[in-house]
Amino acid sequence: MPQKIRKAVFPVAGLGTRFLPATKANPKEMLPVVDKPLIQYAAEEAVSAGIKELVFVTGRNKRSIPDHFDKAYELEHELAERGKDKLLNMVRNIIPSDVLCVYIRQAEALGLGHAVLCAREVVGDEPFAVILADDLIAPRNGLSGLGEMVEVFNYHGCSVLGSERVPHDETHRYGVVSAVESGERLWHVNGIVEKPAPEEAPSNIAVVGRYILTPRIFELLEHTPRGAGGEIQLTDAIAELLQNERVLAYEFEGKRYDCGDKLGYLRATVEYGLRHPELREDFAEYLRGLDVDALIG
Ligand code: G1P
Repeated sequence: MPQKIRKAVFPVAGLGTRFLPATKANPKEMLPVVDKPLIQYAAEEAVSAGIKELVFVTGRNKRSIPDHFDKAYELEHELAERGKDKLLNMVRNIIPSDVLCVYIRQAEALGLGHAVLCAREVVGDEPFAVILADDLIAPRNGLSGLGEMVEVFNYHGCSVLGSERVPHDETHRYGVVSAVESGERLWHVNGIVEKPAPEEAPSNIAVVGRYILTPRIFELLEHTPRGAGGEIQLTDAIAELLQNERVLAYEFEGKRYDCGDKLGYLRATVEYGLRHPELREDFAEYLRGLDVDALIG
């Protein structure tokens, strides 16, 4: 059995320009889907996959993220005074007490690869996960997206890239792999490129915001030059990693929502609303009664 995956890195220093003005003063990771911010879904996914240390790589304007996971004395006091025990319990238990949150400040937004490198000292010499909170992955059969990947890692003991087949004309939005099928939902990766134009993409298998990586990636990131968009790309370091180690791409069973994109975010909101235990029936009735054509005019 390989070393256990105990730590997850959450790069949350990005500017969220696709969601301006909502993200002018608030991080995109705090956008709610129904009643929970994206970062909380991501943290819950990690915790349910057995992660014990959440490492947030933050930047400017991100103070609400540590605040969200911190103790909220005034709020807890108010809720206790008013006898709102259910809510009190909810805000007290956002993260289980045996899970540690660590915050690292990424002074300059030099790219995803650089953000991951900032976590090197905290992660140390062990395999770890990376979660991009704007990719929301709905659990499937009780297993979270990262949970599925941890099972793959535990069996194969090598780096695993969470992936999904995307329409060919969307490859320019993702890291895209060239790969040979090596099992159910599993691909042996022999190349990866960041945001290729459709005519240059090696396949339509895209990496979607979940990674399990061996610590060798840190050594490679130290020397990774700026790549696509002038940024230090995690994809470029993975391209080097796979020259020396086995890297697998795993196609999730769980459904992914690209919440960094307005349409993806709306889809998530509608579908999570339809699954929400308190809202589902009323919301379904509302949607059924909508006159969509009249609304779009
Ligand atoms: C990042 C990665 C890209 C990956 C994507 C998944 O891009 O660089 O390889 O496919 O996340 O969401 P970003 O969306 O931050 O531009």
